[in-house]
Amino acid sequence: MATDTNWRSREWFETPELYGWTRQAALQGMGLDPASFQDRPIIGICNSWSELTHCNAHLRDLAHSVKTGVWQAGGVPFEFPVMSLGEFNMRPTTMLFRNLMSIVVEESIRANPLDAVVLLGGCDKTTPALLMGAASADVPAILVTGGPQLSAHWRGETLGSCTDCRRYHTELRAGNISAEDWGELQGVMVRSAGHCMTIGTASTMATLGESLGMALPGNAAFPAVDARRAQLAQRSGKRAVALADNRLRPSEVMTPAAFENAIRTLHAIGGSTNAIVHLIAIAGRLGIDLPLKLFDQLSDSTPLLLNLKPSGQYLMEDFCYAGGAPALLKELTPLLHQDCQTVSGETLGANIAHARIDNADVIRPLVSPLQPDGGLAVLSGSLAPAGAIIKRSAASPQLLTHQGPAVVFEDHEDLLRRIDDENLDVTKDSVLVMKNAGPLGGPGMPEWGLLPIPKKLLDQGVRDMVRISDARISGTAFGTVVVHVTPESAAGGSLGIVETGDLIELDVAQRRLDLCLPPEEIERRLASAPPKVKDSPRGHFRLYQEHVLQADQGCDFDFLRAEP
Ligand code: FES
Repeated sequence: MATDTNWRSREWFETPELYGWTRQAALQGMGLDPASFQDRPIIGICNSWSELTHCNAHLRDLAHSVKTGVWQAGGVPFEFPVMSLGEFNMRPTTMLFRNLMSIVVEESIRANPLDAVVLLGGCDKTTPALLMGAASADVPAILVTGGPQLSAHWRGETLGSCTDCRRYHTELRAGNISAEDWGELQGVMVRSAGHCMTIGTASTMATLGESLGMALPGNAAFPAVDARRAQLAQRSGKRAVALADNRLRPSEVMTPAAFENAIRTLHAIGGSTNAIVHLIAIAGRLGIDLPLKLFDQLSDSTPLLLNLKPSGQYLMEDFCYAGGAPALLKELTPLLHQDCQTVSGETLGANIAHARIDNADVIRPLVSPLQPDGGLAVLSGSLAPAGAIIKRSAASPQLLTHQGPAVVFEDHEDLLRRIDDENLDVTKDSVLVMKNAGPLGGPGMPEWGLLPIPKKLLDQGVRDMVRISDARISGTAFGTVVVHVTPESAAGGSLGIVETGDLIELDVAQRRLDLCLPPEEIERRLASAPPKVKDSPRGHFRLYQEHVLQADQGCDFDFLRAEP
């Protein structure tokens, strides 16, 4: 690390030609006295605030705290907007725009006179997009997420978004709660500012930000409305000034060892399946290859410690009071690379040295984990030659080994049209299969993988079945759901040739997912099944269609990955 004041921004402001002068004139035009910006590093605050992204709607307030810290440490803060991705509002899916947002982040950083950047995100795709863009720009950066919502409460029960939204929606369909109950729930589920408070994708990525070394200790779990979050934002602003001076770049923080720490953490928290795709994409921006088999190897030797919904019982607020990510990482210490450098200026080991668990039912000790191995497993076999993912910690144990006849839906529309048809030939032992919901087929690999239980089975009391698709699922979802089947059906994968009645075998212990047909029959069907890709004639959709990679490569654009 260098320590001098020859900041990158000097190239903008101290040039002999006219524009160096006009840039300083523009700063004065914004009311800044020259003494307030000369001889100081410029700190960007890259803000994914938007009122269309309810999880990030409070980030302008948090930016004020960051600015205070930047000024206190002798820097000059400039807040700037980037694209925001609101999980609830964007159609067809935010995942279709994650790479686009990352490009906006990367080029906003690269094109401007910034010596370091504070990344403000929160909702599911905003955090990975920020980290992807920052990795590509490779200007010193620190992550501050917006924090989780407060826990929701209803009729004596503690509820988490959106694990319990889905659970009660199922009960509504089954006739076990009324429309009035459902309306009442709507008013209590999102209780405060912040992102979803289960260990869904947003909470997962915030936690991985700490284990990657890109966020200060404690970032993940302080609730959005907790004063400690504003304090952490202030400290992050100060640290950004130090990073500008020391030139600690994302590529020096997010090393292969740091990614192993993040994968271990992902398994230990029973985190979102989406994080696999995001970690692969972030690493790819730095020329680091994260094969799916690495996720599986580390899963086998990493116990599940965090007792949060959807795999467990508690919510992010409880995680905070139990000690947060530092306490969890401290417990994982024997499995982590502790010497990784972090944006705090200390190693990961130093960051967590004094952390402690204050509730051993929320963060389980290594000697009494929730599960002896990690929450996620990677499957392969004739139905998923390049891999598929199951969150075994959120699955029904009796379904982890299962053979049953397929009930096939050609796409999401077909599913919605027929799933509740009384004449659908389906039993609790059937395997529900949905095609054409992958990166190309969706397009954008929407979170459609939690196929609903057919109404006639709901009425029989069935609440879980084996469900398979090339889609993703929300990190808040619960059930025996196989997703990310690769290659996807629209790209010629074997998922596309499954017919209703074909036997499918799932064996999670053996990591197998097979279409029980003779190899020659699979070959025959593949040869006669043309890939089905919806045509996108223009704009970003066309760029996406021509360049998106499959799930095992992080669904990034091929031209955005760095050379190894
Ligand atoms: Fe934003 Fe769940 S909707 S994190």
